[in-house]
Amino acid sequence: MTYGDILVAQNLVKSYGGTRALDGAGIRLSGGEVHALVGENGAGKSTLVRILSGSLTPDEGEMRTAEGTRIATVSQELSLFPDLSVRENLFPHGPPRRLGLLDRAAMDRAARPVLAELGLEVDPGTELGELPLADQQLTEIARALLRQPRLLVLDEPTSALPAPAVERLERVLRTLTGRGIAVLYVTHFLEEVMRIAQRVTVLRDGRVALAGARRADVDVPELVTAMLGGRPEQPARRTRAAALDLPPPVVLSGVSVPGRLADVTFTVRAGEVAGVAGLQGAGHLDALAVVCGRAEVSAGRVDVGGRGRPRSLRAAVRAGVAFVPSDRKRYGLMLDRTVWENTTSVSWLALGRGGHMPSRSELVGHTQDLTGRLRLRGGPYDPVARLSGGNQQKVVFAKWLATEPRIVVLDDPTRGVDVGVRAEMHRVVGELAAGGAAVLLASTDLAELTEVCDRVLVFVRGRLAGEVHGERLTEHALAVAMQQGGSPSG
Ligand SMILES: Nc1ncnc2c1ncn2[C@@H]1O[C@H](COP(=O)(O)OP(=O)(O)OP(=O)(O)O)[C@@H](O)[C@H]1O
Ligand SMILES: [Mg+2]
Repeated sequence: MTYGDILVAQNLVKSYGGTRALDGAGIRLSGGEVHALVGENGAGKSTLVRILSGSLTPDEGEMRTAEGTRIATVSQELSLFPDLSVRENLFPHGPPRRLGLLDRAAMDRAARPVLAELGLEVDPGTELGELPLADQQLTEIARALLRQPRLLVLDEPTSALPAPAVERLERVLRTLTGRGIAVLYVTHFLEEVMRIAQRVTVLRDGRVALAGARRADVDVPELVTAMLGGRPEQPARRTRAAALDLPPPVVLSGVSVPGRLADVTFTVRAGEVAGVAGLQGAGHLDALAVVCGRAEVSAGRVDVGGRGRPRSLRAAVRAGVAFVPSDRKRYGLMLDRTVWENTTSVSWLALGRGGHMPSRSELVGHTQDLTGRLRLRGGPYDPVARLSGGNQQKVVFAKWLATEPRIVVLDDPTRGVDVGVRAEMHRVVGELAAGGAAVLLASTDLAELTEVCDRVLVFVRGRLAGEVHGERLTEHALAVAMQQGGSPSG
């Protein structure tokens, strides 16, 4: 079964300001094959996809396609119109017309087999925005298929899809490649790669770390090594001791959250930093949500700070929880207010139980202590909007430090901050644990987990699949455990 080259790209370079998103990358795609493209966050996958699909021009490099090659791309960010119907979304470029009118029946006739193939059972007249996210993603894939491409490019198509939809999509891809179509498939799920791809290319820092290897010639640990590179692995030295004599501030026992978390049991002790890790949708973030009172728990026992299960974020804060979210613009800060107003905004809530109303000068003084500790660049009266991103994130930290938390929940706390700020935050996290707090940390940055955590709980498909700690706590071990659900603790 050889259909020949459909697309060959070489020596592609693309810079954004100082960032080299692609630094001499290339790829060769053949008809009849699913070619997987993998790599860490920021490796350059989407940049390559955008160049191949013609929506981005490279600074350098060549690209050839077979004559008459039509490329359809499903991009990482949904690009549909939620206010329009499914039908209107499926035919954006030229819906069939009759007498100058949109021919709905013709559209539906064309769409029906494609929708059926994907298992998308919707009335084409439904407003897209009313569908669940997974169905919206399938609609986007259906739109690409309706263009009858010779090359279909899918950039992380399955991250929002439930398992049965992923299986249907895999079947559809097999049918397509059987017809000689080339598929470029970007994913973080290496198991999917091993199941459906004939070839795999690994990008690392904008370069090709593994070029079109045949699936049969690689395994998951090798792919992980290619993704991470030969970075020296050094498990951090950990000197903290968890308080084994005190009741653990965080206890989950047999906890389930419908559709997200199944029968999860773990504790976090005072004085330790426990990480949680998993691929998108694995359930690790839902475990954090349980602790923060932001999940619909359907079974199991939860105890946070000795007060049972928190039913709201407010209840969690009363139980001693500090929550540093990843999306600081939405949850973290009042951008138009001053530093002192932000840093003291939740300590009011926590201090409210004491009955003492602190004065403004007390609050400002307290803010100065905290921002000094964090080496914030900015004074207490500066509006937060004027600070840099990293310094804004320090204010989020300061605001929760002000509550003197017993339990600290951090979701990707250093995303988008520079290395200096990152190191300072890591120091503060260590101090919090040393001071007796129980810390739970999620991070998309595996190095952060290995540097900061005493142990990391690994989630796979809604279940706690294992724990990695001590000498074994390396980026490579974590990445492999997240893929396979393996690595039982040793
Ligand atoms: N429009 C842009 N402006 C500035 N920098 C960008 C832009 N798009 C991408 N980058 C940078 O280029 C690099 C590669 O990004 P790209 O989106 O290609 O990564 P990716 O491999 O798709 O990552 P992910 O797995 O997170 O989707 C990153 O450092 C990213 O921050
Ligand atoms: Mg991407």
